[in-house]
Amino acid sequence: MAAFEEVKQEIDRLTEILNDYAYHYYVLDEPKVSDAEYDHLLRELTKLEEQHPELMRDDSPSIRVGGEILEQFNKVQHNLPMLSLSNVFDEQEIRDFDRRVRQGLGEGESPVYICELKIDGLAVNLKYEQGRFVQGATRGDGTTGEDITSNLKTIPSIPLRLKEEVDIEVRGEAFMPKRSFEKLNEEKEKNEEPPFANPRNAAAGSLRQLNPKIAAKRNLDIFIYSIGQLNGREVTSHHEALSYVEKLGFKTNKEYKYCETVEEVVEYCEGWADKRADLPYEIDGIVIKVDALKQQEKLGFTAKSPRWATAYKFPAEEVVTTLIDIELNVGRTGVVTPTAILEPVPVAGTIVKRASLHNEDLIREIDLKIGDKVTIKKAGDIIPKVVNVLPEYRKGGETTFQMPEECLACESDLVRIEGEVALRCVNPKCPAQIVEGLIHFVSRNAMNIDGLGERVIIQLFEHELIEDVADLYKLKREELLKLERMGEKSVDNLLKAIEATKDNSLEKLLFGLGIRYVGSKAARTLAEHFETMDKLQSATKEDLENINEIGTKMADAVVTYFEQPEVTELLNELIDLGINMSYKGPKIDETEQNDTIFSGKTIVLTGTMEQMARGEAKAEIEARGGSVTGSVSSKTDLLIAGEKAGSKLKKAQDLNIEIWDEARFLEELEK
Ligand code: IVH
Repeated sequence: MAAFEEVKQEIDRLTEILNDYAYHYYVLDEPKVSDAEYDHLLRELTKLEEQHPELMRDDSPSIRVGGEILEQFNKVQHNLPMLSLSNVFDEQEIRDFDRRVRQGLGEGESPVYICELKIDGLAVNLKYEQGRFVQGATRGDGTTGEDITSNLKTIPSIPLRLKEEVDIEVRGEAFMPKRSFEKLNEEKEKNEEPPFANPRNAAAGSLRQLNPKIAAKRNLDIFIYSIGQLNGREVTSHHEALSYVEKLGFKTNKEYKYCETVEEVVEYCEGWADKRADLPYEIDGIVIKVDALKQQEKLGFTAKSPRWATAYKFPAEEVVTTLIDIELNVGRTGVVTPTAILEPVPVAGTIVKRASLHNEDLIREIDLKIGDKVTIKKAGDIIPKVVNVLPEYRKGGETTFQMPEECLACESDLVRIEGEVALRCVNPKCPAQIVEGLIHFVSRNAMNIDGLGERVIIQLFEHELIEDVADLYKLKREELLKLERMGEKSVDNLLKAIEATKDNSLEKLLFGLGIRYVGSKAARTLAEHFETMDKLQSATKEDLENINEIGTKMADAVVTYFEQPEVTELLNELIDLGINMSYKGPKIDETEQNDTIFSGKTIVLTGTMEQMARGEAKAEIEARGGSVTGSVSSKTDLLIAGEKAGSKLKKAQDLNIEIWDEARFLEELEK
């Protein structure tokens, strides 16, 4: 018995000493003892714990190696929603934010701001009961997150027991330091595994492992930046909250600054834009917060974010790389667009290999030659663009890029239409244009043919089963069954989906035909106004111009389009095939004006994206009305597949679900 008591005391003693050493090492960054001494004590403790597992404490350092493998992460409802922050991008916008704050506070009250580094990781909520760590969760959609307690327990700077027995929820940013990220990717490369695009993805990926032992090896860290909920104690300001959580044993970031004027805020923000490269972890901006909680309360929240805080985002990072080549693509309207093929280079957290060059004029304007060193940046932090050429690096071997005189797809002469910068292929039979036109015809805002994506269109075209949109309605079951990856079920589904679109309201067909300048909104206006294709076909330019939303250019384009004999022929064919030619929709003002290609769609993301982190992609989709789910099923409308996509891609192909690659996704986002 005495021995048992002694062992218990020894386990308690070792646990407490080791936790204190770990606190000094990981939280305060002031090691008290050598690694060897720490390891020695840890071995002692582990030995005793193995002999007496029942005496192991819930804050034992042995827990940091990671517990049992989980089957799944449970959902966690946040007690207080985890909101996001509004953004500001330059000095003027910082000043505008300050003005709004001052207005909100009213005369005679001035804010004091706390400016903090915006750590680029993932937000987590940590819940403690009587000082014990009981639950840690991701932000999720802000209301519901995932329970990642087992993984979070492996982060040594997250205390398992606090220095006071309080009930508290704190929020912070879990992240992977730059050095650990580099090491991890070196290791991945050695094992021929795909690397993580940036430390944020690596941190998120590590915390979303079902095996906590993996998370334990990933060297994650955390900074706590706020209190979510606190029972039995009042704090009156953000800085007081920070010092309180520090006192409890949490790690906070020490770089924050009090700013009494907006000038100081601007200076802090701009200062860090330069200094951030020297930090051992990534930051993507500065968070500016009103310090006094009373003032925070007065300012309140919008639906998504607090009015008392905002995030200053650093200007897009510009990076130098080499232009390897220029690739050309022919679009639906025949416009030939050049794309820069670049020496892969990391920009703002992802590896960039391609960038849009828009048109030939841009190439001439910046005097771009193949082999040149160029600066690139991500516009809006998403789409890579070539910004400038650095002629001082030229060695003489660079070559001037010549736009071809002939279309790459059909070899007909390219033309430059007066007043336009773009070079075009005007051959209506050009295969590249036909394919792009078909892809457009079946897309969501047009005829919206389920399960008929880019891949299948190309497949049908290459097998000469379709040449124009009317052919889609003439597809035969037995022809389709002969194609690769086309099982009975997918063929039947596809035919059913095509058949169903015969009843579409006129505007879908109108948009799908791809008349120049006629976007989905204009198509709806035209359909609502003329009600039938017939009436629209016989409308004059004046009739069209009399409609509010229709300008001269579009009126011209519509008239010219319907004057073409091939168009009349196509429309007659469509009528014969039973395609509806009249407007069935609601009045225009009753409809959703902000419809995007993503609205209402259930989308699955898979594989590795180069330009964008998974979370970002999800946020972009959600902001456009789509929803993102984890697994592919018959309810999935679209799969966005990055590189090395595996089983989800296969399943989506089997189910005939529309599939986009990353380039297409970025293109659609840009629209
Ligand atoms: S305060 C109401 N402080 O930025 C939101 N957030 O869009 C209060 N972040 O989801 C957040 N460093 O993940 C705050 N010092 C900091 C931060 C920080 C990083 C992240 C956090 C949040 C996102 C805001």
